[in-house]
Amino acid sequence: MSNNLFMKTLTVNASGASYPIQIGPGLLSQADLIQAHLERPDAFIVTNTTVARYYLAPLQRTLREIGVRTFDLILPDGETYKNRESLHAIHDALLSHRCERKTTVIALGGGVVGDLAGFAAATFLRGVPLIQIPTTLLAQVDSSVGGKTGINHPLGKNLIGAFHQPRLVLADTQTLDTLPVREFRAGVAEIIKYGLIRDLPFLDWLDLHLEALMARDPEILAQAILVSCRNKAEVVAQDEFETTGLRALLNLGHTFGHAIETGAGYGTWLHGEAVAAGMLLAAALSERMGWIDKAALDRIENLIRRAGLPTQAPDFGASRYLAWMASDKKVDAGRIRFVLLKRLGEAVLTAEAPLEEVTAILTPGQSRFIENPGAAPG
Ligand code: NAD
Ligand code: GLY
Repeated sequence: MSNNLFMKTLTVNASGASYPIQIGPGLLSQADLIQAHLERPDAFIVTNTTVARYYLAPLQRTLREIGVRTFDLILPDGETYKNRESLHAIHDALLSHRCERKTTVIALGGGVVGDLAGFAAATFLRGVPLIQIPTTLLAQVDSSVGGKTGINHPLGKNLIGAFHQPRLVLADTQTLDTLPVREFRAGVAEIIKYGLIRDLPFLDWLDLHLEALMARDPEILAQAILVSCRNKAEVVAQDEFETTGLRALLNLGHTFGHAIETGAGYGTWLHGEAVAAGMLLAAALSERMGWIDKAALDRIENLIRRAGLPTQAPDFGASRYLAWMASDKKVDAGRIRFVLLKRLGEAVLTAEAPLEEVTAILTPGQSRFIENPGAAPG
């Protein structure tokens, strides 16, 4: 048993098996936490050049301590590498090291590594065990939990993928010490998202503690990660495969956000930044639908600004936005479905947004959330 007094544990109840999310400082060196989830004493670690510099050797040490044989693959860093070439590189390396069905793939890194390594684990030999060790705030509060894995396609974000739940999510909060501020902010966007879609008390708490969160106060940060993961775990338990519409609510801001990422070129806008600007567009559309009032919209804008996140999306032209959004995974029978806010703390998935209102919020002059010329945030 772990004697880490600061560690918190949540359980994700997935259809195949339940699995724990462990959150706390220093978990990377706690061999017992990982050992319990390995089927066999060998592990294949996928990471990238940046994360490897800080955390690959410590993880290898931890695993060696318990007699686990490790192989690794260090990918180049960046969203542009979340593609089929990297996927094939992981498969090739797994094969060349003669990894087998019981070899555990460990994703050590942010959401890019997690999605890529997760998809490789889902597809290698039709599925091998996976452990997620997220090292960005975004990955700790969102992408490592819930089993969505995949890669980008030139025509759109995350279009190729699979559900593959991990055996364990190990979120060592100390790894966030080395995370650049821009990446930290991007993670805060996903944290704000949970408050907006389903947890008004959490939104109120964030309003009170946002500056402490941005200063990475350890207690506030741990609490924000815990509540975010609890929200995500509850949603995943109820709609693991995104069939009822509930899980789709986690995509507030993502329809617009993915269009921003695609339009600007992968990696120009960070995923979390695009989600932040996208959430404001979704909120503005919700206001035009008469669902939230101006005070609520202003409150969301203020929170996003205080987090240092962009409050305006680039002006690509409404018709190009509409074209990119038409390849969103939520499109149903050709109709774009948006996650909008019925009220603060309650999101809905709807295909009812009138085209002229969508066009208006994407048009400078009619919308304060679109900027011209739309430089990348920095
Ligand atoms: P990322 O993986 O690109 O990481 C951001 C940057 O931080 C990278 O340069 C990375 O090398 C670096 N980094 C990672 N950990 C670090 C650390 N501890 N110290 C210093 N640098 C570190 O980006 P991200 O924001 O973590 O993830 C974004 C990706 O996640 C997108 O591809 C998005 O589509 C995906 N995503 C997936 C889900 C899901 O449910 N699967 C949910 C949300 C986002
Ligand atoms: N990030 C959205 C989901 O996991 O469903």
